[in-house]
Amino acid sequence: MRTQKLPHSELEVSCVGFGLSGQPSWTPGPITNDDIDRVSRLMQCALEAGVTLFDTASPYGLGRSETVMGQVFERAPSLRERAIVQTKCGQIMTDDDGNLVTPRIDLSKREIISSAERSLRRLKRDRIDILLLHQPTPLMRPEEIVAAFTALHESGKVRYFGVSSFSPEQITLIQRLFARRLVVNQVQVSLYHPRRIIDGMGGTLCVLEHLDLVHQRLSGVATPAVKARHWVPAGDSIIDYCRIEGVQVQAWSPLRHRLPGAYQPQTDFTTLDARLAKLARELDVSAHAIALAWLLKHPAAIVPIMSTSNPEHIFQNAKAAEIQLSESDWYALLRDAIEAVEAPSGC
Ligand SMILES: NC(=O)c1ccc[n+]([C@@H]2O[C@H](COP(=O)([O-])OP(=O)(O)OC[C@H]3O[C@@H](n4cnc5c(N)ncnc54)[C@H](OP(=O)(O)O)[C@@H]3O)[C@@H](O)[C@H]2O)c1
Repeated sequence: MRTQKLPHSELEVSCVGFGLSGQPSWTPGPITNDDIDRVSRLMQCALEAGVTLFDTASPYGLGRSETVMGQVFERAPSLRERAIVQTKCGQIMTDDDGNLVTPRIDLSKREIISSAERSLRRLKRDRIDILLLHQPTPLMRPEEIVAAFTALHESGKVRYFGVSSFSPEQITLIQRLFARRLVVNQVQVSLYHPRRIIDGMGGTLCVLEHLDLVHQRLSGVATPAVKARHWVPAGDSIIDYCRIEGVQVQAWSPLRHRLPGAYQPQTDFTTLDARLAKLARELDVSAHAIALAWLLKHPAAIVPIMSTSNPEHIFQNAKAAEIQLSESDWYALLRDAIEAVEAPSGC
């Protein structure tokens, strides 16, 4: 699998990352040998397939995701050396004693530092490669965030910093005070959540709708017309902003989260899924690999963070890096995706 330089850093990361939000499960309870064996196998397979970037977060599995990764690294030090570990802080699900509390986002200096230190202990590492703020919060104070980042960097505990689901303005609030560069923004973008790809392209969609009608009239062939009239006003152009500033865009939930309705509108993706399946048959790959290849074709060098509990699926998904989607197939998938999310039942 090809790699790319993480902007403003010395790190080379794989063009597809592996997420461990569901590994092991969120079901509380002691970690078993089976959990460690299973995650170890997934991580081994990911590395074998060329994936070097591993994404976790302090709240995943209420800390169990990081803890299991730490156990895996302890068993196999070669994995520790090869894996680039990215984790996140700020999402609060439990108190200091591990009791469940009403979730909130806390980006105070105290919480960022203590969360990173807890992550290091669980991961059994001396240093976190990349630490992300999991979500922005209306209560965040940039000076506190920058003070925490600076302390963590100066003490050698964190190499690089980034954010997740931040807008351009929220990134700027921090970056203007921070002497180092924020290197990652992990956002939700995929065929199942395509709006960020067409941010600022409202005019293009209107033209496409017009061209579709002209094409239909001239050829007599009905194309699935882009419904620009349902178009929701442009968002924050976060992908263009990250391209300008040299911030790596990572795509979370690039496939379809296992919980129906989680992270995506309750939408009918039948037409999109049928086209993915047809292309998959033609190219002799899995439909999931096509969905990842669709993101990889974007010139912003988006890094999808995929997840699976099935080692075989890792190898299938890694083939995405070799797929060359034609522009017409890319546009056909975009049309189906827009049609699904813009249909009246979509959110
Ligand atoms: N920053 C954030 O706020 C945020 C939020 C959500 C997620 N994330 C990150 O993004 C990562 C991925 O997101 P996600 O967990 O929502 O899931 P995802 O990667 O979008 O989708 C995972 C689902 O796809 C299925 N799948 C994957 N490959 C497949 C294949 N080849 N064939 C059939 N099914 C396949 C998996 O089932 P199987 O297990 O059966 O393969 C699973 O149900 C997370 O682990 C996490 O690291 C970050």
